[in-house]
Order: sequence, then C-alpha cells, then structure tokens
Amino acid sequence: ATRPRPLIAGNWKMNGLLKGVGELEAIASGIAGGGAGHAETLICPPFTLIARFAAAAAGQHIKIGAQDCHAKPSGAHTGDISAEMLKDCGASYVIVGHSERRTDHGETDADVKAKAEAAQRAGIIGIICIGETRAERESGKALEVVDVQLAGSLPPGATGANVVIAYEPVWAIGTGLTPTTGDIKEVHDFIRAKLIAALGEEGHNVRILYGGSCKPSNAAELMGVDNVDGALVGGASLKAADFLGIAAAY
Ligand code: G3P
Repeated sequence: ATRPRPLIAGNWKMNGLLKGVGELEAIASGIAGGGAGHAETLICPPFTLIARFAAAAAGQHIKIGAQDCHAKPSGAHTGDISAEMLKDCGASYVIVGHSERRTDHGETDADVKAKAEAAQRAGIIGIICIGETRAERESGKALEVVDVQLAGSLPPGATGANVVIAYEPVWAIGTGLTPTTGDIKEVHDFIRAKLIAALGEEGHNVRILYGGSCKPSNAAELMGVDNVDGALVGGASLKAADFLGIAAAY
C-alpha cells in the first residue's frame, strides 16, 4: 500500500489573540518556501481566530481547523459551535476527543464518535484523538485502551478522506516526555491493523498522527517510525520557527 500524504497539524489549545495572525503568516510563508516538503499542514487555533486565520490562509498551502465541535448542526445549545459553522468560517478539519476534552468535559467515546460523524456530515475532516494515561501504560494496558477508544470513536463510513487518527499518550502531552520509538511503532502498527480490520483496504489510507511533546529536535526520529503519518503538535505549534522545524523534519 502507498503511504498516505503526511499531515503536520498544530493545536493551539486555549492560546492566541488576534495578533497571532502574524505567527500564522510566518508559518505560511515558510511553507510557501518549501518548508513542509510533501506534507500537508494545518493550524487549529481557538474558535475566535478561525475566520481570521482562514482569510489569511486563503491561497496558501496551509489549512485551518478547529479543536472541537458539537454533534448537532444547529439548535438550542448555548455556547456550542457546530461542524457546519466551522466549515462556514473556513475550517477544513476539526480535532475531536482530545484528551483535554475527555478530561475537562467528560467526553465519552460515543460523544467523540458523534462529533466525528458531525464533521463528516459537514464535509470537514475529523481528527480523532486516542491515547492511554500513565497508569494505563504502566499497568500494560496501553493497547487495550487504544483499542476500546478507537472502536468506540471511529464513525461508520470512515475513510482516509474524512478521518485522521491521532495517537496522543496522555502522559506525553506537554510534559517533554515521549514514548520510545519502539513503543510508538507498536501502537501505530496496532492502530493500522485495527483500521484495516474495520475498513478493509481503506484502512491503509487513514493517516495516523503521533502527538505529545513533539518538537524540532525529536521530530525526525518520531516521524521516521513506521505508520507515523505526521504529527499533532501542541506547544511547539505556537511559534512559527518551531512548527516549521517540525514540518521540515518530515
Ligand atoms: O494536541 C496536541 C497535544 O496534545 C500535544 O501537546 O504540547 O505536548 O505538543 P504538546
């Protein structure tokens, strides 16, 4: 099977004001200069910046996404944002089920699946996040946890064109810790096998990103692992130089 086109995605989390558009422009110009090679690139700022960033990214080789969506298209859900609204303001991706949403907002696999289906319905790509906690890893349950989360979160009709999986071990997020390349390979190979079991040949086309303390100095090593089709980058995506350093490593 041919490898899918890699994706280097930045998750800005709850960071970024309007002046952050300068950073986005610096990223876009680095990419215009060939800084991401063959990889697709994406920045997911907070909701407040999506429309502004999408306007700045128009005609550039960088896409804009969101960090969450509601499962319904519209209605009486104060404070929520639908996938249709994201698409309307220029997002082409949405992260769903990030571990911070699962923890801070009690999102279940069923919630995450419904959000991934909402993304499909709206015509944007859902990035489904899964990953074990430190306690789960230490008790030898990492694969089991990833298996349950993937099975519970993957929507029917998933394809390489509407879904991306991000493996983010919770203990590696924002800690400076990363799994060994052997451990990453084990989990990514496992996810690939599960995707093929669920989707047949199409399972080869779904990109599997690694996320958790990815930075320019470790990107080449992480991205060199089998079945790692890109990165979901938190802290290091906030600075153009760091994000471009990671993109260049692919
Ligand atoms: O979604 C990306 C993220 O959770 C990883 O964060 O800061 O460890 O790169 P960070």
